[in-house]
Amino acid sequence: MAKKEKEVNPLWGGRFTSGSDKLAQSFSASIDIDKRLFEADIKGSIAYADILKKAKLISTNELNKIKKGLNKILNEIQQDKFNWDPALEDVHMNIEARLVKIAGAAAKKIHTGRSRNDQVATDLRLFLMDKIDDLSKLLTVLQQSILQKAEGNSETIMPGFTHLQIAQPVTFGHHLMAWYEMLSRDYSRLQDTKERTSVMPLGSAALSGTRFNIDRELLSKKLGFKEISRNSMDAVSDRDFVLELASSLSIIGIHLSRICEEIIIWSSNQFNYVQLSDEVCTGSSIMPQKKNPDMAELIRGGSSKTIANLTGLLSLMKNLPLAYNRDLQDDKEYIFSSVDFSEDSLALLSLVIDGMQPNKDRMKKDCYKGQITATDLADYLVEKNIPFRQAHEVVGKIVAYAENKNSQIFELDISELRKFSKLIEEDVKSYLDPEKTILSRKQIGGTAPSQVKKEIKKALAAIKRRK
Ligand code: ARG
Repeated sequence: MAKKEKEVNPLWGGRFTSGSDKLAQSFSASIDIDKRLFEADIKGSIAYADILKKAKLISTNELNKIKKGLNKILNEIQQDKFNWDPALEDVHMNIEARLVKIAGAAAKKIHTGRSRNDQVATDLRLFLMDKIDDLSKLLTVLQQSILQKAEGNSETIMPGFTHLQIAQPVTFGHHLMAWYEMLSRDYSRLQDTKERTSVMPLGSAALSGTRFNIDRELLSKKLGFKEISRNSMDAVSDRDFVLELASSLSIIGIHLSRICEEIIIWSSNQFNYVQLSDEVCTGSSIMPQKKNPDMAELIRGGSSKTIANLTGLLSLMKNLPLAYNRDLQDDKEYIFSSVDFSEDSLALLSLVIDGMQPNKDRMKKDCYKGQITATDLADYLVEKNIPFRQAHEVVGKIVAYAENKNSQIFELDISELRKFSKLIEEDVKSYLDPEKTILSRKQIGGTAPSQVKKEIKKALAAIKRRK
């Protein structure tokens, strides 16, 4: 093998007489994935240099050289002028090696009392804290799209389904607000995850902490962490924050997937409940008439990645002894994949929902199918003092009778209904009319338009408080 390929790594050259094997080198390089941490890495190093100065481990002159160098590197990377070298393994060593070239001897002090083990844990936490903020904003935008649609449809009537069979009438606004609720839990899960991500490992060094007088409290404040880690061994090996975010994102993933599944069903020819905008659909290369809900399908399909990434991370962690193990390097690929997918799909789903137009006539028409107000008829009998179980039985017989005649129960004459119970009178009509029955569900959580409007108002206020 050529000599150059086996050059000893300058950051640990002392102990080594030979560089690593070429395959080993490419196998262990993570630069293509972790270079995304450059901003966090540089931010962390600048704050760390300040603290080294405070501990009198570097001079003011050295501090200035280090800061200037790091800012220059930040610029180089942002302008795509930085030469990433896979032989230097990762983002940390690439930046440090470049700093040595720019700032000379001063740069060789930046790693005093620090290890890549506490450095990478710190960088990843900083990076993900920012991402959680971005994701939370995207979630909020999606919720706003939903709220806007719900506002215009608090009185739009549609069938509600159980087992994908017509069950009881609801309002389209109520259905949309169910999506809003799912995403509200997601939002609060992200905030909780951020709480536990906001713990600074720096100062833990390789695994046992540092002998130097590093002001960890101040360092943590400078970096915007809420807390500092209390055990150096735990700090460098803990990836619970990654697992938690991956888990939160997989729950978001399945929520988005379920929403998309409904949109796909509704936009089918058979249902025809909604029309999707051209910008989120594609045509067929052979069938000229087709307009397919591809974005919704890709979100539904792609959300599997968030589940795969979570199980990948859980498997990665389950056998690791304390403290740092190189296995941990693989955490990034999984969590970056989940973050990227979630960002794109949240933004896309907002677009899908903004452009989604309900076909109100079609929805309403289906409310006159499936004996949709049978439960209301049972409720009517309950109000006439019949025990519910008995009322259920009576209505079951009425439904069988109607089905036999190929009719709906609201089409039956009062005289026909009275054959099953003498308690049924003319006032039953409002119980059988889907547009009237929805008005009765006015309790908190119910589908009555008045109640849905209240919930939308509450939600709008809650979203306002977020900013
Ligand atoms: N690239 C490594 C990672 O992401 C950095 C830490 C390396 N530490 C070590 N002891 N080899 O985990």
